[in-house]
Amino acid sequence: MTERTFSIIKPDATRRNLTGKINAVIEDAGLRIVAQRRVKLTTDQAKTFYAVHAERPFYGELVEQMTAEPVVVQVLEGENAVARYREVMGATNPEQAAEGTIRKQFALSIGENSVHGSDSLENAKIEIEQFFTEDQIVG
Ligand code: PPS
Repeated sequence: MTERTFSIIKPDATRRNLTGKINAVIEDAGLRIVAQRRVKLTTDQAKTFYAVHAERPFYGELVEQMTAEPVVVQVLEGENAVARYREVMGATNPEQAAEGTIRKQFALSIGENSVHGSDSLENAKIEIEQFFTEDQIVG
């Protein structure tokens, strides 16, 4: 089934000029980048985006990291895009990420792990709507 998922290339990656290299991994995996924008998240945007983690001990650090420098927000499209992108990203902790995944290749730590991808189709829709209108997504 063709799906859309939401992706963020995080500050640790944009800082190291890795956007192109990460996009190449995404495209080589058969996913299409159908919307993309570079943006500096506000604290409010980051807090809303990660509201589900508000009670977790790393929430403050996560919000701080995500607003420190620009990110690239993206919509990816393809067969089973949500699960496929999670596979391509690799485990949250880069030490546990499989060979060839984005996090294995580029992530620095569990916090600075280079990319975010939606964890369900339902959340993908919610996350996409936080950053893109339908006319900005060109499949
Ligand atoms: S997951 O994929 O949702 O099951 O992973 P989870 O462990 O629940 O982590 C959720 C997001 O929080 C980030 N995270 C952290 N940030 C900073 N410091 C620490 N210690 C930390 N631990 C987890 C993790 O990178 C996940 O970010 P996203 O953007 O959702 O991938």
